Amino acid sequence: MIRHFLRDDDLTAAEQREVLELALAMRKDRFIKRPFEGPQGVAIIFDKPSTRTRVSFATGVAELGGYPLVIDSQGSQMGRGESVADTARVLGRQVSAIVWRTFGQEKIEEMAEYAGVPVVNALTDEFHPCQILADLAAIADARGGVDKLAGLTLTYVGDGANNMAHSYLLGGALAGMHVRVGAPADYMPDERVVLDAKRLAAEHGGSVQVTTDHDDAVRGADIIATDTWISMGDEEQAGERHGRFEQYQVNERSLELAAPGAQVIHCLPAYRGKEITTEVLDGPQSIVWLEAEYRLHAQKALLAWLMEHSEIER
Ligand code: CP
Ligand code: NVA
Repeated sequence: MIRHFLRDDDLTAAEQREVLELALAMRKDRFIKRPFEGPQGVAIIFDKPSTRTRVSFATGVAELGGYPLVIDSQGSQMGRGESVADTARVLGRQVSAIVWRTFGQEKIEEMAEYAGVPVVNALTDEFHPCQILADLAAIADARGGVDKLAGLTLTYVGDGANNMAHSYLLGGALAGMHVRVGAPADYMPDERVVLDAKRLAAEHGGSVQVTTDHDDAVRGADIIATDTWISMGDEEQAGERHGRFEQYQVNERSLELAAPGAQVIHCLPAYRGKEITTEVLDGPQSIVWLEAEYRLHAQKALLAWLMEHSEIER
């Protein structure tokens, strides 16, 4: 069997805990796992821009003993229309894993169907599951361990319909957290994702709450998360979006309403003065730089775990 990571709930709660524990251990010792010794190649493909994901996967694969092939899809035959399935068949015969940042979720599902090696979602329009692993690992590290995650209230305010909102819902629910989303009525999460998150939360001791009220969302929260109001691909709607999200900005007032000692996370890149103020982003309650560092450790842990749990036939 080949294990993929296309959305947050491709790992069970117990498996997510294993990966998070490994991420914290790999922050202390970067070289305890070498699944790509050889070096074996790992394809890391981008259909959209990236700084953190590109650097953390390339560095991570190298530190896991492998050779990262960072591919800009526009410079490959994918950019000229070669199908996902054919690309998957070719890559899967040469590399040991495929990491892909793309648009629709159905594309990465097709890649996984034909690759024959683990496929990892490095962001789609619907989900950004590697980011949530890093976020959970950073919160766990900052709070003294993975067992501290369950029971925390994690609030996300902003564009409730984007990839980050969906992944917080699923990943947070798996971790046993109380996940809240505060967003305008016309930017609410996909109902199917909310239902899946509610089911997972019920199984793991957490809960899910979706509201249009910023204050209700952040009141008493242990963790406040936000993200850009204009995701990659939404640029044409920039004007109307800015007007719709202003009241969901994370600022000093949000922190006054949150639990004492609440921590602030942001996947980055941040747009200062828009979804978050500079005071909060650079303030003492922000853990965004630890969070960004954890992209490396969490993805290395994930890749090592996926390789250990997959049987690749060649
Ligand atoms: N957070 C994140 O995925 O950043 P990049 O777009 O820079 O990879
Ligand atoms: N929601 C953002 C995340 C960027 C890392 C986007 O999709 O552009």
